[in-house]
Amino acid sequence: MNPKSPNEQIQSSKLTERSPINDVEEKIDTILDSLSSAGVDTSSWNSEYFELPDDLDALTEFHKRLTEFVGKRGDALLSFEFFGDYSEQEKAEIRRLDRDVEASFRNPEGFLGNGATAEVYEMPSNDVFCVKFIINQDRYNENNHMRKEFGFLSKVYMHTRDQKITTPYPAFLCIHANRGHSYGMEKIHGASLSQIIESPQKYQRLIDEIAEVDRGQAEKDLIAFVRSMHEAGVLHQDLYQRNIMFSEEGRLYVIDFGKSDQIDFVGQREDERKRDELTATQSLRDFFDKIDVLTKKDK
Ligand SMILES: Nc1ncnc2c1ncn2[C@@H]1O[C@H](COP(=O)(O)OP(=O)(O)OP(=O)(O)O)[C@@H](O)[C@H]1O
Ligand SMILES: [Mg+2]
Repeated sequence: MNPKSPNEQIQSSKLTERSPINDVEEKIDTILDSLSSAGVDTSSWNSEYFELPDDLDALTEFHKRLTEFVGKRGDALLSFEFFGDYSEQEKAEIRRLDRDVEASFRNPEGFLGNGATAEVYEMPSNDVFCVKFIINQDRYNENNHMRKEFGFLSKVYMHTRDQKITTPYPAFLCIHANRGHSYGMEKIHGASLSQIIESPQKYQRLIDEIAEVDRGQAEKDLIAFVRSMHEAGVLHQDLYQRNIMFSEEGRLYVIDFGKSDQIDFVGQREDERKRDELTATQSLRDFFDKIDVLTKKDK
């Protein structure tokens, strides 16, 4: 690979509107954020950071010292937060899964899917959970935070778990200072509606299953899900085909609360609620239309 000339580097960073200073600041922000999530008092680091000049050398030096500090603390800076009632023994077992969490990341065999901000992987040790890792922290931070996303998922799951359509079961939030954040959830054995459309050969069994689905009922169930989610105080704001999954048991699941937002009181944010309903139903209708085209082609 040819190293880029300084000029090319400036050009390419202009294209993405990022500077080396932005990059270092982003890394520092992620570490400081993780440290405070792990319960470390970061006030002296924060005030020093605040006083630093807008200068690459000073920021790089600060980042180096902060990284050394994190390195010395090692796994003490890992915080696991659990959803639901696990016994202490189960919690210890899940904490031990952390090594699998790390091992699963970027393992192509366990890759389940990706989006604009995240990648999702199976865990090598079990078939129950999968883990979502943020890969574009900068873009992600514009919208949300991992703890917030996990909180929305948990709230909506609690409110919809007995309905026909629900979300994956939220399992654990893993805040790690130098590896970044991730969370574990039930692995849905199936595929997103967009994955099914994009690779019909790969999902032939699911497509056969979909042919049996009562479409009017599925739409009603999806609207019921969206309304319950709103009752739980959560707007989804991203109910496209890539965020709706179809499982091998013939169930629909809604995933990805990365662009979600809060509804504070009854009657608030009517327009956005309507938009959630319309986007979800349109996504489902378009999906069934494309399935019809695909299955007709086969005949
Ligand atoms: N619980 C799950 N079980 C199985 N596969 C999953 C699960 N959650 C996510 N996936 C797969 O990973 C993909 C990416 O996940 P997700 O939508 O949460 O990421 P994202 O980067 O936030 O996406 P977006 O681009 O929509 O913002 C999904 O489209 C789906 O294919
Ligand atoms: Mg998504």
